Amino acid sequence: MDMSTAHRERETGDLMKVFDNKRAEGSFVKIAAPMVRYSKLPFRMLLRPYDVDVVFSPMIISHSFVRSERSREVEFTTLPYTDQPLVLQFAASNPQQLGDAAEFVTRHCEGIDLNCGCPQQWAMDSGYGSHLISDPQMVFDMVSHARNRTTLPISVKVRVHDTVSETVEMARRIEKCGAAFLSVHGRTPKQRYEPVNYDIIRQVKDAVNIPVVANGDANSLEQANSIVALTGVDGVMTARGLLRNPAMFKGYDTTPIECVQRWVDIRSLLGFKFDSFRHILAQMLVDVLSKQEMQTFNRLNSTAGILDFLSDYGIEKGDAGRLDAMYCDLMSEDTYYVS
Ligand SMILES: Cc1cc2nc3c(=O)[nH]c(=O)nc-3n(C[C@H](O)[C@H](O)[C@H](O)COP(=O)(O)O)c2cc1C
Repeated sequence: MDMSTAHRERETGDLMKVFDNKRAEGSFVKIAAPMVRYSKLPFRMLLRPYDVDVVFSPMIISHSFVRSERSREVEFTTLPYTDQPLVLQFAASNPQQLGDAAEFVTRHCEGIDLNCGCPQQWAMDSGYGSHLISDPQMVFDMVSHARNRTTLPISVKVRVHDTVSETVEMARRIEKCGAAFLSVHGRTPKQRYEPVNYDIIRQVKDAVNIPVVANGDANSLEQANSIVALTGVDGVMTARGLLRNPAMFKGYDTTPIECVQRWVDIRSLLGFKFDSFRHILAQMLVDVLSKQEMQTFNRLNSTAGILDFLSDYGIEKGDAGRLDAMYCDLMSEDTYYVS
């Protein structure tokens, strides 16, 4: 199945080399977590210059993705060379679904992840997400089957069980089915804002030989470093920290002004909707603006109004030419993938 209108092929890189290289440097892999609604191409483009090594897509429902062209158009857009390495995360409830999706996207990303962490009721009821941590045989079957359908590495993202022994047992089974790496959000499916259990992540890391990625409350580079020191993991994955400060992994305490400018420039290149533009901007400005300034920002209801507001902070009108030359070349060559 051909899902690209591009005339320039994406050269799929070796995702696992990123882990090898970081380990050789005595460092760890910095990963942007999957986030429904947020981690689409524009946000991924925003993150790339800020020391993010690997970026995940939002969770995509494999079944509808494979069956519906409309779903693919909405759910997945990428650019070769620049939007790499990219891991596409799927929700699936049986081996066929994950295998079909994996085969479909093999030439368009560097890795495929199975979501075993989503705690929402609708997902659990459909046999997706963290429902799967209680069905290790199904995870085993899905990953094993998908591995026969693609050359890409298959990873798994989980939440933890209530006990160390159940969690370690789950991790060992995931390793056995040939998963390339394991991302562990150190909360159980029932937990929301409870402290992240880094000790259980450390015990998972000690129990398996595949790379382990820690996830949960790594909201600064300093915190990410401490989590690595505490757990010995190979990578740290962040969601909300990167929303509030996309330059976090580069060591910035809050969103730098150049990052806001980059977002404005990306909008002018891709021309995405006002709501998407505003929503992400609002998140990254929270720690930069005062409460009063934020209230003013939240009342703005047009792109022109936002650009006018931002000009007071030295942000210029969007100019795609300011972005990495590669992006503009790719756009002009019509290599913008629209599955
Ligand atoms: C807005 C939002 C959307 C999310 N969407 C996904 C998703 O699509 N797939 C997934 O595995 N986790 C998803 N998560 C969970 C995060 O990937 C991550 O596991 C969780 O937020 C804990 O990490 P953090 O403390 O760095 O935010 C989402 C989280 C947020 C805040």
